[in-house]
Amino acid sequence: MSLCFVAALRSTEWRDEYESGLSAGAIDLETSFDAVTEYWSPKVVAQVNDQYVKVAKVRGELVWHSHADEDELFYVVRGSLRIEYEAGQAVHLPEGSMHVVPRGVLHNPVAEEECWIVLIEPVTTRHTGDVESPLTKSLAQQLA
Ligand code: NI
Repeated sequence: MSLCFVAALRSTEWRDEYESGLSAGAIDLETSFDAVTEYWSPKVVAQVNDQYVKVAKVRGELVWHSHADEDELFYVVRGSLRIEYEAGQAVHLPEGSMHVVPRGVLHNPVAEEECWIVLIEPVTTRHTGDVESPLTKSLAQQLA
């Protein structure tokens, strides 16, 4: 069997897999961020088991809130972010760094300048926990 034939076979298998919905192929994050036009409005770009991967652009502060049962991962792709905690504590996240906010802990994300983040959190996670804010986005809005 020639190498060419093997390559063709593989590409056919790949196409079948793609068409059956087993894989969405490469997700270009830059393009994903292009589709984000509003601050503090996460958009779901992938699901890994029971977790969503989301992209968001943020600037200013969100709102103090917590998630009783869910840890929340913040990965800073561009700019920098500060996660504020109670008692004046804060974690500073420069570009390229990440941080996991533990479940049940009150926090407030703050960005002095525009910041691009990837979030990984369980599908059940509510944007601002039990707090309703003008910035709160529903899951439907995050999936739109
Ligand atoms: Ni949160």
